[in-house]
Parts: sequence; C-alpha cells; structure tokens
Amino acid sequence: MKSLKIFYLFFFALFIFGWAEENLDEKVKLFLQENRYLWRDENISETDGKILFGIIVENNYKSALEIGTSTGHSAIWIAWALSKTGGKLITIEINEERYKKAISNFKKAGLSDFIIPILGDAHDLVYKMEGPFDFIFIDADKDWYKNYAMALIPKLRAGGCLTAHNVLNRFMRGVRDFLDYIYSLPYMETRIDNSTRSGISISYKKAENK
Ligand SMILES: C[S@@+](CC[C@H](N)C(=O)[O-])C[C@H]1O[C@@H](n2cnc3c(N)ncnc32)[C@H](O)[C@@H]1O
Repeated sequence: MKSLKIFYLFFFALFIFGWAEENLDEKVKLFLQENRYLWRDENISETDGKILFGIIVENNYKSALEIGTSTGHSAIWIAWALSKTGGKLITIEINEERYKKAISNFKKAGLSDFIIPILGDAHDLVYKMEGPFDFIFIDADKDWYKNYAMALIPKLRAGGCLTAHNVLNRFMRGVRDFLDYIYSLPYMETRIDNSTRSGISISYKKAENK
C-alpha cells in the first residue's frame, strides 16, 4: 500500500513539474513574440539568442555570467535555457535605467527566479565574481573585452564556454585585441559563428588554466 502511494506521488510530481515547465515555456515564448520588434537598446538579435540558448542546453550548463544586460534580451534567452538545466544567470549592467527595465522584462517573461541582476561597473565586479562559471557571455564595452576575458577565463570551468558578441569587426581595436588574446590561449578552442551580422565568438575551455 505504501509503495503504491509513493508510486502515485512520484507520477503526480512528474505531472506538476512537466506542467510548470510547459507553462513557463508558453510565457517566455509569448513575451519574446510580443517584444520581437521592440528591442532598441543595443540588444542581440533573436538568432543570436537562439545560438546562446543552444550552447547552454546542449552542454547542460548551469552557472552563467553575462557582462552587459542592457534591457535583458540576451539574459532572457540565457535564463530560458538555464530554466531547462536547473541553472542560474548573474548579469551585470552599469546603466540604472536599463537595469530597471531589464528587471521588469525578466518578471514579464516569468524568468526572475533564474536571474540575479546586478547594477554596477563590470570593470570592478569581474574581479570580485567568485565563479566557477560554465558559461560566460560578454556584451559590453569592446575596449574591455580582453580585460574581461583575462579576468574571467580563470573562473570558467574546464568544459565551459566563453562567448563574446559583435566580434566581426576586426578593425575595432578592442575586438582585435580580444580575438588575438583568445586565439593565443592553447587551452581555449575558439570558433566564430558568423551566421548573423554581429558575429559571436565561441570559445570552449579544454583544460584548467592556472
Ligand atoms: C550591447 S549592450 C548589451 C545588450 C544585451 N546583452 C542584450 O542583448 O539585451 C551593452 C551594455 O553594456 C553596458 N555596459 C557598458 N559598460 C559597462 C560596464 N563597465 N559595466 C557594466 N555594464 C556595462 C551598457 O550600458 C549596455 O547596456
């Protein structure tokens, strides 16, 4: 009798969990659909969002960090992926107005539980972040891309992935310095996804660096 009860409880829990996940998916999809053409604050494209989503889900990443929240489009794609892996995103933004708008967007998308938004200067905060992280997305001031990478790669787990947005313009010094640096690291395997106009560098960490 007791084992029958446990059996029913188990399937009830599975049902509730499946229902909650489906419900969240619907809420996120609706939010993204309604806002598809409304992102005006240097936000990534939907295609870029799908790329980030895919990397996280495929690799079952759980702890993520984003530099440059803006109003939250990329964070929503990342957090949606983390809702499937049971993970959490920390995202940093320096502009208070954008930070507040992002928080409101996270609520509307139903993803607040998966995101820790931080208002502050990433130039300082990257050194204070504890890590380790499975996934990092850099999408802030280009002149600092290399510094962000230098500060954060030691906090990236072996097997983890560091991504950076808008890396197709090698004429920009910050982008060039960042790419030269990341390609020089023997323990990072880098490729550039140029399926969108912006270009995302995707670097997997093959081994621990000291
Ligand atoms: C390209 S936007 C980010 C877009 C966002 N990832 C999205 O797709 O929705 C870059 C953001 O980085 C922020 N930023 C620039 N320098 C920063 C810094 N030192 N610390 C934190 N955020 C910074 C800017 O205020 C801006 O909102």
